[in-house]
Amino acid sequence: MALLDVRNLSVGVEDSEILHGVTLEINKGETHVLMGPNGAGKSTLGYALMGNPNYKVTGGDIFFNGLSIKDESADKRAKAGMFLSFQNPLEVPGISLSSFIRNSIVQQSGEKIKYSEFKKNLKEAMEVLSFDSSYKDRDLNVGFSGGEKKKAEILQLLMLNPKLAILDETDSGLDVDAVRTVSRGIEEYQKKRDGALLIITHSTRILESLNVDYTHVLVKGKIVETGDASLVTEINEHGFERFIGGQEKD
Ligand SMILES: Nc1ncnc2c1ncn2[C@@H]1O[C@H](COP(=O)(O)OP(=O)(O)OP(=O)(O)O)[C@@H](O)[C@H]1O
Ligand SMILES: [Mg+2]
Repeated sequence: MALLDVRNLSVGVEDSEILHGVTLEINKGETHVLMGPNGAGKSTLGYALMGNPNYKVTGGDIFFNGLSIKDESADKRAKAGMFLSFQNPLEVPGISLSSFIRNSIVQQSGEKIKYSEFKKNLKEAMEVLSFDSSYKDRDLNVGFSGGEKKKAEILQLLMLNPKLAILDETDSGLDVDAVRTVSRGIEEYQKKRDGALLIITHSTRILESLNVDYTHVLVKGKIVETGDASLVTEINEHGFERFIGGQEKD
């Protein structure tokens, strides 16, 4: 049984349909890459999978661990073990990075965690990401640089340890060193914890240290091709023209 089974999913925002019948299966421990031109619907897929109420499922279904989650709240999906890192992480004044993460863990597991244990785990995860410990007491993302916000997303990933992580352009706007740091965090989640990943990206840099099992190309709300890691290289060299041309013919 697949961990995530997306079947013929159509999603609309307001009155227009953005995704037209997307089918995708992700098994435990697999890494999938989703590429596609701007506006293809990649973030829309991420939001719809996570249960953002602005993105309405108009057809098909989403199964997580064998159960349909199509009508579940975002909160229930997170509790079931799904995680989405945002393309543009929100600033949350008044809540520190550390309390935000602790609250999320408590909410999702439904259990209290020992403060000493939490502190130890947080320290370790921040070290993996070369994140200065002073950031844990700063308000979540407030005044964080673009790169620091992305690191804060990966810190949440490592602390929450979901079954499936959807990373929406976690690598965009990162300098060369930060890309390596963030990759290291993702690699830790992928290899040491056997996590499943759906990585939405426009670049190959983040993928250099990760094993990619499948690459999907999304064009105008449809997956037009699925291949292995070599598809990422092909797209980087030749762009999306071949895929866009192919869709216009039918
Ligand atoms: N909340 C919304 N309201 C109106 N239109 C939306 C909304 N969300 C998405 N769309 C539209 O849906 C289409 C797909 O957007 P989406 O953000 O999913 O693209 P994307 O593939 O993630 O692009 P990018 O590579 O630029 O991040 C776009 O035309 C966008 O304008
Ligand atoms: Mg996007």
